[in-house]
Amino acid sequence: MGARRKIAVLGGDGIGPSVIEEARKLLEVYRDKAGLPLDLWELDLGADRFLRDGTTFPKEIQVAIQLECSAVLLGALGDPRVPNLEHARDILFGMRFGFDLYANIRPVRALHDRLVPLKGRSARDVDFVVFRENTEGIYVGMGGQFKRGTPDEVAINEDLNTRKGVERIIRAAFEWAKTRGKTKVTMADKSNAMRHAHELWLRVFHEVATQYPGIEARHLYVDALCLMLVQDPSQFQVIVTNNLFGDIVTDLGAAFQGGLGMAASANVHASATPERGKVPLFEPVHGSAPPLAGKDIANPFAALLTAGMLLGHLGWPAEEARIERWVTKAIEEEACTVDVGGKLGTRAASAWVRERIAAEL
Ligand code: NAD
Ligand code: IPM
Ligand code: MN
Repeated sequence: MGARRKIAVLGGDGIGPSVIEEARKLLEVYRDKAGLPLDLWELDLGADRFLRDGTTFPKEIQVAIQLECSAVLLGALGDPRVPNLEHARDILFGMRFGFDLYANIRPVRALHDRLVPLKGRSARDVDFVVFRENTEGIYVGMGGQFKRGTPDEVAINEDLNTRKGVERIIRAAFEWAKTRGKTKVTMADKSNAMRHAHELWLRVFHEVATQYPGIEARHLYVDALCLMLVQDPSQFQVIVTNNLFGDIVTDLGAAFQGGLGMAASANVHASATPERGKVPLFEPVHGSAPPLAGKDIANPFAALLTAGMLLGHLGWPAEEARIERWVTKAIEEEACTVDVGGKLGTRAASAWVRERIAAEL
């Protein structure tokens, strides 16, 4: 089975801890029944910890993850008791930026026709992946406020785009397409309005595309992309875009999958060989959904599918496929939470999937 893999597990806030608890139990089944060499390390970070002692993301934890861990599994961060979300940014961006996880890979696959809200469309029509740039753009936090609280106040957020950053995410999207036999990559920007930063995106996209002659490279403005996604998602296989647009497009994509309770994601430094300190982070696309917290109603499937992506990334792709197969079956049998047409609670829906996987291992 090889060397042991230590996974940092961080439930976070709101529904995060309850869905990650279910993902953790699934990983424990893999450890205890299938003998996967997984060591799970629970981290006490998030809003509760911040409110207790002011801790957000200590340097020693960051370094310990980088030295010891093969992956991080995160629920979600965001709590109304922390209005400026300081802890959430420190932790989430601390990993995305601090570990240089430049590719936020968000598959948009519908697992059942019932989940697709688009008129005349079925699950077959929803199967693409978004490569969201994850270390640059308007998320870098550069800028500031001036004359705050006065009638003359000014607020600036800079949109940072580097040649290296743009090129590596575009290349990662083409490489992903190439290795999976996909034939279409679409890049979405707003180069008609944001002529400096997005002219760079457009130029680099066409340049990189010439190195992938078998792949059709299509450029769309992001507003048109949103329209076309709703009209006919089946025309897309791989979409690459910047940090902010990727965030928005993947919530739209989640709607095609049955909602945020079904959308999984990986944040990776996409080089072919693992690089020291660039520990991949796996998280459902959804947030902490405060109104659902503590009620046993949140859909745990995004978290289970995310655990599947983690296993796939660590070298067990058959287990990623097995998890997706059983989640699909649960949806078919309506053994799921209310948001996706079932009657079960978080724990029962998750147990349905976990017990069937355990029986197969
Ligand atoms: P959200 O994703 O928490 O919720 C959006 C909608 O989706 C809500 O209607 C919610 O009920 C529903 N939903 C989300 N997850 C679900 C699940 N598992 N099962 C069933 N329904 C689900 O987004 P929001 O309300 O905009 O944000 C809430 C907080 O989460 C904010 O603080 C935000 O910043 C944070 N957030 C964090 C992350 C992250 O940590 N990666 C991601 C998104 C939002
Ligand atoms: C996501 C979230 C985050 C983002 C927030 C919480 C900062 O919406 O992971 O999609 O915008 O990246
Ligand atoms: Mn988001």
